[in-house]
Amino acid sequence: MTLNITLRQLATFQALARHRNFTRVADELGLTQPAVSMQIKQLESQLGVALIEQRGKRIDLTEEGEEVLAGARAMLQRLDDLDHALNERKGVKTGRLRISVVTTVNTFAPDLLLIFQQRYPGVGIILDVANHKELLGQLADNDVDLVIMGRPPASLDLEADAFLENPLVIVAHPDHPLASRKRLAPSSLSEETFIMREQGSGTRRAMERFFAEKNLGFVAGMEVSGAEALKQSVQAGLGLGLMSRDAVRMELDAGLVVELDVKGLPIPRHWYLVHHKGKRLSPPAQAFKDFVLGEASEVLRGKRRRA
Ligand code: PGA
Repeated sequence: MTLNITLRQLATFQALARHRNFTRVADELGLTQPAVSMQIKQLESQLGVALIEQRGKRIDLTEEGEEVLAGARAMLQRLDDLDHALNERKGVKTGRLRISVVTTVNTFAPDLLLIFQQRYPGVGIILDVANHKELLGQLADNDVDLVIMGRPPASLDLEADAFLENPLVIVAHPDHPLASRKRLAPSSLSEETFIMREQGSGTRRAMERFFAEKNLGFVAGMEVSGAEALKQSVQAGLGLGLMSRDAVRMELDAGLVVELDVKGLPIPRHWYLVHHKGKRLSPPAQAFKDFVLGEASEVLRGKRRRA
C-alpha cells in the first residue's frame, strides 16, 4: 500500500478531533480554514475512509476516524520521543520548550520566561495561551511540554505541583454601590450581575462552586472569553467579576477597579505546574520545571511587593 499521508495532515486531524471546530484549528495552527478542510479531505481520500461526520455545526468522528486518531497520536508521540532523545544528547543549551498557560497566568508568565531565557538563551520558547479546558486537551494530545493552570482534575493521569498562591477575589467598578461596604455577607451579592467567563474556564467553575456551596444565586450577565476581557468589562462598569487577583493587580493598584470586602473571600487557590505522569521531559522542560518549582514564587512575590 502506498500512502502519501503527511504528518501535518495527522497533526491537523488530531487538532480537529480536539477542537471539533475548523476555525479554532485554523487559529491554533496558523492556517486558513479552507487549508484545514483541504488537509482533512486529502487525508480522507488517501486513506479511503470518512473520518468525520458533520451535522450542522457539530463535528463527530466516525469509527474509522477514532481509529485513525489513535494511530495518529501514537505516531506523533513516537516522533516527539525521538525529538526528546535527540535533545537529550544536545543538553539543555538548545532545543525547544512548549509551554501553555491559562489566560490569567499570561499576566506573569513573561516575567518567568525572561529569567529563563537569560539563563538558557539557546532554548526556543513557544508560549500558547488558552483556557483550562483547552489546556487539558493539549495535555491529552501531548501537544505541550508543560502547562501552568489552576488545579487540574485528580481523575486525569497528570503530575501537578503547586508553586504559588492564586487568591480569587470579586472586583467592581470604583463607583459600584458595594465598593465602599465592609464585611459584606455573600448573600448580599445574589442580586448582583456578574460578568461570566466562557464555558471551560477554571475561574468560571470556581465561581459557580463558590455560589453553589453557599446555596446562593447570582445574576449571570455578559459572557466573555479570557481574563483580559473580563477585567476590561468590570472596568467599564458592566458588572462584577470574580477572578484571580493576579489578573487585576495593576488595575487595583491604579484604582481602576476595587476589590470587594466579602466574608469568605478571597477563595484560596494555587497555580500548578502540570505535565503528564509518564512524560519524559526534555532537558529544557526539566530545567524550566526546576526553575518554576524552585524559584518562581520568590521571583513573583518580589515583583508583587515592588508593584
Ligand atoms: P481559566 O484559568 O479561568 O483561564 O481557565 C484558571 C484555571 O486554570 O483554573
